[in-house]
Amino acid sequence: MKVIVTRNYEESCMKVAEIIIEQVKKDPTSKLGLATGGTAQQVYPHLVEAYKQGRVSFSQITTVNLDEYLGIRPDSEQSYRRCMDDWFFDRTDIDKAKTYVPSGLNPPNMEIKTFNEKLYGDKPIDLQLIGVGVNGHIGFNEPAAELIAGVHIEKLTESTIQANARFFASESDVPREAITMGIGDILKAKRIVLIATGENKAKVIGKLLADDTVTTSVPATLLKVHPDVTVVIDEALAAMAGYKGCC
Ligand code: F6R
Repeated sequence: MKVIVTRNYEESCMKVAEIIIEQVKKDPTSKLGLATGGTAQQVYPHLVEAYKQGRVSFSQITTVNLDEYLGIRPDSEQSYRRCMDDWFFDRTDIDKAKTYVPSGLNPPNMEIKTFNEKLYGDKPIDLQLIGVGVNGHIGFNEPAAELIAGVHIEKLTESTIQANARFFASESDVPREAITMGIGDILKAKRIVLIATGENKAKVIGKLLADDTVTTSVPATLLKVHPDVTVVIDEALAAMAGYKGCC
């Protein structure tokens, strides 16, 4: 696993954006796996800026997002489709017909089928961006004795509901279920880039970087079996996580 330790979160976002830009420049038809969440959000302005400066075009890429809440309308502010449109898709030359954020409204079985077609109908994901939950989830793969490999409906844990309540009017408004790529889907991406920041991620990042075990109770540790993962964290998080590989 490659670890990049930056001076601060802003620098981490710039670094991750540069990795994505490099990928798209190398292959303008890249298939990108994208993430929402507060941490990944600040990566997108850097991509938009690079597009505006004429440094990169996203016109030929295809994208597939990790997940979406069930029961949420795509135009509601908390929907991941709306987030992606507002943060990235509507601000660049992306062909929106080639973007996919799962629908939280379609019947789950039908949407799981569509999700699989988007994931596997053409080529594998070249680069998958991910964040990590306070409890170690990636996508919405929550800690459990067994994880599900493929696309599925996940019941959100109390920890995730509490963590995501900040995006809703109240905790009771947070949807209880989501559709998500499974752990196997994420691990099939050719390259994975994880961005994390903040004290509340220290325990999980410690388990990922300062420990050599793999456990389904911290799903992010499964990334240790993938041959091409880059973790981008700031020095404050690296110190709190007990990561000694840097400096
Ligand atoms: C979002 C996603 C989630 C988030 C994670 C971290 O598409 O799949 O795994 O990446 O919950 O969210 P933040 O960055 O808000 O702490």
